[in-house]
Amino acid sequence: MDKILITGGQRLEGEIENSGAKNAALPVIAASLLTKGWNTFHNIPDLVDIKTIKKLLGSFGVVFADEKGSLRINAEDIQSCTAAYDLVRTMRASVLVLGPLVARLGEAHVSLPGGCAIGARPVNLHIRALQDMGAEVELKDGYVIAKARRLKGATIYFDIITVTGTENIMMAAALADGTTLLKNAAREPEVVNLAEILNGMGARIIGAGTDIIRIDGVPSLHPVEGTIISDRIEAGTFMIAAGITGGDICIRNCHPGHHDALIAKLRDTGMEMVVGDRSIRAIAKGRPRSVDVKTLAYPGFPTDLQAQIMSLMTVASGLSLMTETIFENRFMHVSELMRMGADIAVQGHSAVVKGVPKLHGAPVMATDLRASASLILAGLAAEGRTELSRVYHLDRGYERIEEKFSRLGAAMERVKA
Ligand code: EPZ
Repeated sequence: MDKILITGGQRLEGEIENSGAKNAALPVIAASLLTKGWNTFHNIPDLVDIKTIKKLLGSFGVVFADEKGSLRINAEDIQSCTAAYDLVRTMRASVLVLGPLVARLGEAHVSLPGGCAIGARPVNLHIRALQDMGAEVELKDGYVIAKARRLKGATIYFDIITVTGTENIMMAAALADGTTLLKNAAREPEVVNLAEILNGMGARIIGAGTDIIRIDGVPSLHPVEGTIISDRIEAGTFMIAAGITGGDICIRNCHPGHHDALIAKLRDTGMEMVVGDRSIRAIAKGRPRSVDVKTLAYPGFPTDLQAQIMSLMTVASGLSLMTETIFENRFMHVSELMRMGADIAVQGHSAVVKGVPKLHGAPVMATDLRASASLILAGLAAEGRTELSRVYHLDRGYERIEEKFSRLGAAMERVKA
């Protein structure tokens, strides 16, 4: 397995291009199942998770054509509706094929994704919503088996805000008979991007980006050409990298409006944040001040940046209370950060981070995608050398991260196993 070696202490400076968003591309690729003919999507990131969902759709009979940064998808001839465990278990977001398959074929056999490092990751809300729309759903041999001659519009209330739950049911409802209302829907930009693409396919969706989304079902959808939004979690990771290295980094081709919570928080730490139309420049102003962070559904502070800002707090000037409200086990990075000299006390869903003057490099192990990013950030700031193993976690969600950081002045290299 590859490793990433970092010699810390370099001040990062310069510009990077924000890549396409993994969590926008995955549901949009799944949405192609609703159409017959060639879809074209631009700004698709080159990530392991994208390869995984292509393999999954390929197993149904979907065909692809790759053009630099763009992806053409044709789901005309689907021969299977079974999403097998060996593929689904490598990526929970595979559950996003459930809604489109039931809507398109009237049947779907999707392996239960199983948990992951950060939590049990149940899909009960996805299943319940499909049942509300008239699907017969049974759990058999670890598979969700959902059947419906044609889904019926329904009013659905999510008692927990679920991003892929909202996306799955929005796709299912697009071809349902009648109107569906999603209440307590997720408001993430990735949900809005999906709704725009679906409307381009001929769907009739209003309210995406708010907590009530209305979908008026239509008989069929047609292929579309669309563009994936930029990845706000990648961009946020680089803004925090500026803070932890005393640097100055400009992220180009991003959506500043997606970053309100992070920009406010980084300003509270004392950083200067210069916001342009399509760029954000993050400038460190000395040692960061400690701030409290509570993760919330969008537009609150994103759980996917909790590990990364915790790394920044490990070298801040005081005490930071960090509360993770979305997932039940998202502090896997804490023990690894402590091996680098961080002073962190975890109590249930909260962690108290006492800033230390310096971290020191150490061999550390990635446990999940965003935890690995937090260890990269800590390694950039630490004295000495950090060796990060199990970087396959990182490759799921960051496009050529060591190249981007090296271009900013980091002493970082990937060592092939
Ligand atoms: C999406 O996951 C993202 N993944 C996650 O990003 C992100 O952390 C998460 O939303 C929260 O923002 C993709 O978009 C592919 P949820 P998702 O359903 O949809 C509970 C990354 O690093 N829940 O919004 O799976 C669930 O357990 C990944 O890129 C149920 O109880 O998350 C969690 O506590 C990690 N039942 C909460 O809701 C359900 O049926 C929010 O989960 C569904 C969810």
